[in-house]
Amino acid sequence: MKHHFNFSLKNYNTFGVESVARELIEFDEEEELLKFFRDNIPENKLILGGGSNILFTKDFEGTVIHYKKKGIEILSEDDNEIILRSHAGEDWDALVEFSVQNNWYGIENLSLIPGTVGAAPVQNIGAYGVEMKDCLIEVEGVSLLELKKEILPAAKCNFGYRTSIFKEKLKNQFLITAVVIKLSKTKKLNLDYRALRDYFQGRNFEEIDINEVRKGVIEIRQSKLPNPSELGNAGSFFKNPVIDEERLSYFQSLYRDIPYHKIGEAIYKVPAAWLIEKAGLKGKRIGNVDVHKNQALVIVNYGDATGKEIIDFAEMVKNTVNEKFGIKLEYEVNII
Ligand code: FAD
Ligand code: EPU
Repeated sequence: MKHHFNFSLKNYNTFGVESVARELIEFDEEEELLKFFRDNIPENKLILGGGSNILFTKDFEGTVIHYKKKGIEILSEDDNEIILRSHAGEDWDALVEFSVQNNWYGIENLSLIPGTVGAAPVQNIGAYGVEMKDCLIEVEGVSLLELKKEILPAAKCNFGYRTSIFKEKLKNQFLITAVVIKLSKTKKLNLDYRALRDYFQGRNFEEIDINEVRKGVIEIRQSKLPNPSELGNAGSFFKNPVIDEERLSYFQSLYRDIPYHKIGEAIYKVPAAWLIEKAGLKGKRIGNVDVHKNQALVIVNYGDATGKEIIDFAEMVKNTVNEKFGIKLEYEVNII
């Protein structure tokens, strides 16, 4: 365990913005945390993983909790399935790589998503047609309200598109310490997502193997998304908005090329990146902040931007899209 005071979080968030935490405590074990907070659970607290989905707009006048335990173990297996437990401090992509190397199917489309395993259920991470909830059995953690260990089965996690109970009702109230997932030992690939289909165009899909899928996903991502170790960012800043059939028909009458994806009966998701681009903001730069030239959903810090400059810029993007399309974009990134 390490206890820091007045701690700079600049290297603890992928935007690379400065923010000083009044207190930061790094825990290696659940028991340490339970003992440490036994008599006094801080009122104002923030759980921090790898800081890849967070924007600090000011200093944090409270206690940052950072849980570091790593490790992946096999809980059970048969000829068809394997059940793994990963501790929360493990790097998400290390878990994906380990699974792919063993030909365990289910999370290969989630390759190269930055961050920790513990944060993966928080916004139900998703990419290329797969979401965390598709393989999740249960989440283990500590309730920071009652200071006791708890296990939440997937059905109680209220998973949705980029959301869960941990991003809403239990935000900063439930420290995820481990995640239990089920993967398939028999070949099951999901190649339906447009960008993946295009990547494998001309190939016999039956012959594609799990290593190629991981490689494909990594290449697609690297061609669009800036690497946070070179350019500060937190991936998609906004969620893709959901609209009804009437709205979609109206937009189609104005823009014949509007991309959309049916997600339910008369409900459609439209790419926020397309809206931002059509609003003329792709590549738009103010000071040290811009809309990334290859992916309009990503806001980039070119160096010394403050969190305040980034959030002001994001508000400008939101207002411009609202004025043009009457659609209010929602932040995907957690704003502190
Ligand atoms: P943090 O940013 O530290 O925290 C995120 C949230 O989770 C915070 O609210 C925090 O309080 C909470 N949290 C963190 N750890 C715990 C814990 N142990 N217990 C309880 N709460 C916790 N996301 C996608 O879904 N799909 C993508 O394709 C994708 N691509 C990205 C690409 C780039 C280049 C970047 C920078 C980000 C991308 N993201 C994507 C967003 C991000 O990687 C994920 O949200 C990731 O799960 C965040 O992990 P983290 O450990 O960095 O969490
Ligand atoms: N598009 C544009 N302009 C752009 C980029 C995209 O018009 O600059 C349009 C294109 O029509 C494209 C469509 O948007 O076909 C979708 O683009 P892409 O496949 O890149 O996906 P996205 O909707 O922009 C979402 C996730 C990503 C995830 C990818 C792949 C959200 C908010 N974002 O992006 O997640 O990696 O799909 O599945 O849902 C993240 O959450 O941080 C993240 C990066």
